[in-house]
Amino acid sequence: MSSVSPKPVYREAKSGRIVEVFNSPTDLFHAAARKVAEIISDCLSKKQSCAIALSGGSTPKRLYELLAKGEGGAIDWKRVHVFFSDERNVPPEDKESNYRMAKESLFASGLVSETNIHRIRGELSADEAAQQYEGEIKRVLGNNPAFDLVLLGLGPDGHTASLFPDSPALRESKKLVAANRVDKLKSDRITFTYPLLNRAEHVMFLASGPDKADIVRSVLSGEGDYPSQHVRPVDGELLWMLDKDSASHYIEHPSR
Ligand code: 6PG
Repeated sequence: MSSVSPKPVYREAKSGRIVEVFNSPTDLFHAAARKVAEIISDCLSKKQSCAIALSGGSTPKRLYELLAKGEGGAIDWKRVHVFFSDERNVPPEDKESNYRMAKESLFASGLVSETNIHRIRGELSADEAAQQYEGEIKRVLGNNPAFDLVLLGLGPDGHTASLFPDSPALRESKKLVAANRVDKLKSDRITFTYPLLNRAEHVMFLASGPDKADIVRSVLSGEGDYPSQHVRPVDGELLWMLDKDSASHYIEHPSR
């Protein structure tokens, strides 16, 4: 593990949001691993256990692999509960499964104890899986759950977790976890809702690569109305960690 954490080439902190841009994907993922370790250690210095939620998709895989190698710094994983901010409606062995991705990139290390891994049961109907998962979150975190850290990605259409544009779960104001029909994918998803996301102590968005440059600029500059723009932790820290390619269209014209 290198002793020095990569420094951002660009940083802004305003209106309750921090944006950090790193020179390369390698720097981004190393810095993200350090930030995750820092947030967890800080949390464990105050509480007996810590609860984090992993994001799915392809972007965080490199982060999970670094965490599995201890690249972020020492983490007392035995005291960390690991959940998922969303899942596809598929069984855990399916190639589309976010759980499978995390299993292959992080859990295979054996660092996280089986009893602390709380996966969304994507093999059930989306409604059953969402209900079951809300119960599991409340069993571990109590009736007013607030995650210590929620990791999120960003889709090219501005979706995050499985909160897609024009999907019903965007309007969910009570449930903490919802089944969400995504017409354009002709499939159901299970996702954290805004009420749960916006209770988090820390929310970390991670985006990498030139394909994300347009949507990153639109979302961060407040253009349009994208699901990811409505993730605004009430009392928590909102952090966007980007590489230069994904931030390229934003740092040219950062929002005033
Ligand atoms: C999922 C994710 C989703 C993801 C974005 C970005 O289950 O797909 O949780 O919100 O973060 O779609 O995906 P990529 O990282 O693959 O670009």
